[in-house]
Amino acid sequence: MITLLLFVSSLVQAQNLDPVPEIMTNLATQFFTDFDAREPGMNNYRPLLANVVRLAFHSCAGSTGCCGYVNLDEPDNAGLGLSVDYLEAFMSDWNAAGFSRADLYAFASQVATGMAVGDNLDTILQTVELDRTDCEAIPEVGSVGFPHAHDSPFDYMNTHFGFSNRETVAIMGAHNIGRATPQASGFDGFWVPNPLSLDNEFFDRISDNPWEQELANADRQLHAWEQNRQGPDLIALNSDMFLVRNFNTVEGRVTQNGCRNNFNNCQDAPTLDDVEFFRDNNAEFQEEFRQVYARMLRSAGEGLEQELTSLCERFDCTTVQVEAPVNNNGNNNNNQDSSDSSDSSEEEEVVEDNGDNVQEDEAGGEEDGEEEAVEDSSDSSDSNDGPNGGRPGRPGRGPGGGRGGRPGRGGRGGGRGGRGRRLLQH
Ligand code: HEM
Repeated sequence: MITLLLFVSSLVQAQNLDPVPEIMTNLATQFFTDFDAREPGMNNYRPLLANVVRLAFHSCAGSTGCCGYVNLDEPDNAGLGLSVDYLEAFMSDWNAAGFSRADLYAFASQVATGMAVGDNLDTILQTVELDRTDCEAIPEVGSVGFPHAHDSPFDYMNTHFGFSNRETVAIMGAHNIGRATPQASGFDGFWVPNPLSLDNEFFDRISDNPWEQELANADRQLHAWEQNRQGPDLIALNSDMFLVRNFNTVEGRVTQNGCRNNFNNCQDAPTLDDVEFFRDNNAEFQEEFRQVYARMLRSAGEGLEQELTSLCERFDCTTVQVEAPVNNNGNNNNNQDSSDSSDSSEEEEVVEDNGDNVQEDEAGGEEDGEEEAVEDSSDSSDSNDGPNGGRPGRPGRGPGGGRGGRPGRGGRGGGRGGRGRRLLQH
């Protein structure tokens, strides 16, 4: 009875609210089409979807918290021009509707993360909050402290966002999407074979494979972890590897030889259990990620939070009529349970990868005569390649976009062996 009363009162309340502003539904609808856009003039494949997710993190990283700007002259922000430019096209309509620049970055990034985990737009809108305060000026170069890829992420995340170690593990799961490029950070590669789907594969990768640390960029003296696998490399930064192992470094290079050559010789990190939990429980990972990402987007800097208002308390989210995006496995995520097929602890098919064949989407990602966002390459060592050696697959399409293609797959190992001892099969 009480539930019925609450339901009726929420309907009555919704009737008194204005509909969700058109600029929001327009942006989301447009993004569901554009998520895979690439950087103009760049050969490297880099999905807009992931770039927007990173943009929001970098716009929240300073002592002022999320305030709507990143300085593109800042070396740590290299590569973010793709999403800054994309979102700038919406800015005047967005501001005219009365919302801040910081809210636009947060909104777009929640559309992106929501799409990457397979949520419907109405589910995504439930996570959106408004009323962030914009910075008075673009932060000067050097004024925002960004975490270094050579360092452990825990102190940084705790000081800036107040995250516990487990929350830091969850937020670092963002590295399941997107990539690093030599032109931006100086690193080169993808964390997982499908850079468009935000699931727990990243945790499977960093906990299950034999990694060794290499000099990843001699000019910039950057060290990263690599796997012994054919085809385009998957990478892990020190900051990722600290989630599963403890090690000492000098200027990023691991000092213990045995540990550097094989991460199984390094000490286990205290957060290894959290990594293994997320690795084995995709739905729980995605839920904790949604929560911790929303918390990051509230940041007022130095562990404080801005006071925000829920979008759906101010506007009537029940009026949003948008066809549900489907996730990479063709499933509507709202019907997903914790044992669904996107749990990367389950076995996946192994796709042969000879490095020069482009894999076709298995479920018609090319339908509707869509233009492919990623150019083919006949050279498997070209970083233009997707991480699976061909182009990456697409996630489910947005509203009205029809069914999405299956993601391209890199080679997966056979049965899961003991931690860290499984070699990838090709
Ligand atoms: C200690 C913390 C972190 C470090 C050191 C770090 C470092 C990096 C580096 C070096 C790149 C490659 C950039 C490039 O070459 O373009 C990258 C990419 C990325 N990062 Fe992080 N990151 C951290 C935390 C986060 C967090 C908290 C998020 C989001 C919540 C995030 C999301 C991403 C995404 C989505 C990409 C791919 C971007 C693209 O494809 O354009 N990272 N990160």
